[in-house]
Amino acid sequence: MTEHARNTVAEGHDPGAPLVLGQASRTGLAAVPPAWQEALPEMRGTVQEPFRMDGVLIFRAEGGDERDLEAVAKLRREAGEKQPLIAVTSADASLSDVRRLTRAGASEVVPDTVTSEEFHEICQKWRPETPAAAPEADRMGSVIVVGKSRGGVGSTTVAVNLADELLGRSGTFRKSAQKRVALVDLDIQLGDIGSFLDLDPNEALYELAVNGKEPDATFVAQAMTRLPSGLSVLTAPAHFAPLDALKPAQIAGLIDALRKTHDYVVVDLPGGLVDWIDAVLERADRFLMVTDCAVPSIRQARRLIDFFSDSHLGLKIEIVVNHEAKPMLLRRHHAAAEKVLEREFRHWLPDDPSAARAALDRGVPLSGIAARSRLSKTIARMARGLADALASREAAARTAAH
Ligand SMILES: Nc1ncnc2c1ncn2[C@@H]1O[C@H](COP(=O)(O)OP(=O)(O)OP(=O)(O)O)[C@@H](O)[C@H]1O
Ligand SMILES: [Mg+2]
Repeated sequence: MTEHARNTVAEGHDPGAPLVLGQASRTGLAAVPPAWQEALPEMRGTVQEPFRMDGVLIFRAEGGDERDLEAVAKLRREAGEKQPLIAVTSADASLSDVRRLTRAGASEVVPDTVTSEEFHEICQKWRPETPAAAPEADRMGSVIVVGKSRGGVGSTTVAVNLADELLGRSGTFRKSAQKRVALVDLDIQLGDIGSFLDLDPNEALYELAVNGKEPDATFVAQAMTRLPSGLSVLTAPAHFAPLDALKPAQIAGLIDALRKTHDYVVVDLPGGLVDWIDAVLERADRFLMVTDCAVPSIRQARRLIDFFSDSHLGLKIEIVVNHEAKPMLLRRHHAAAEKVLEREFRHWLPDDPSAARAALDRGVPLSGIAARSRLSKTIARMARGLADALASREAAARTAAH
């Protein structure tokens, strides 16, 4: 924000206003899309006051500037939790700058190099009354839980990249997310989604473990870090807490709050068994069991599947074979493993160490560094298949309800 804008906010005036809004109101509502497009060049300049358009508040701010951060926080306090705030920032802002702005209260941070078309799409997405922007009030997003048969087999890789692909990004450079996706690291002790996405640990789950309170919608919304891709992420805490320090009702509250505001909630489970896992599985629309085909992994997968499905009869479990591309014909040990698990191997993810390594080194999903790799393409296909299956299931449930 500029000095002028800071004053506007600091004095508590309605920040809705000047330049661009002036143009929009002169031309009337029908001219909103062009007005959005005119807004962008304004936001690229250094002088810009916050302005309100179609229920969205837009302003320029830099994450490296403490005064800007204070102004954003003040704007958030004054405008209330529900007010969409879009910060336009320099294209060379670091991820930490983006994070600081998000933490201060920005709903979305947009680089000032976006095209008018993308900017328009982003603003449309945040319009409070846009039906595609948020699940309908009575609709809960789908919960996809990712578990593993052994440590290191690839469940975090699946969770992170599946969540990223479920955004269904379109437009130039695939920047506009069509869906709202939350990614939650419930591996509270050893979770490393933070490293996968170059994000800091988040103490929200530790706080819950310590204070024993059930999280409300505001707590959950504030705990989430929103990436420029649109993905909302809750990383694991840096502080060590015993796995069972969290209560089932707390985890239930967390997931329910996220389901109300997202189309998909992707959960990365810890390896151990703990009683709050029931609260996750009760809400799971899909459980993806990531495994490899080694005999100990298959045996362990079977034990876990039996344990989970005993207490959750309708749980839809799908097997994800990692480190192996789908063979033309199943080999004998594959068939034997399917028999042990009493279910087909639904998804196969090829071994692709260079793509996996490149993504880890850069702290970005595969789509950001190795989008053409077989691994990335296979996960993208898997995400589309899952999204379609969940949508038809929901459509069938609706028809049955009528
Ligand atoms: N298909 C793959 N091809 C190549 N490398 C992979 C593949 N899937 C995962 N990896 C790599 O394997 C390592 C472990 O993966 P990941 O952290 O996703 O496993 P995990 O099951 O979540 O492990 P943990 O038990 O530590 O939580 C990572 O270095 C990851 O990049
Ligand atoms: Mg993991």
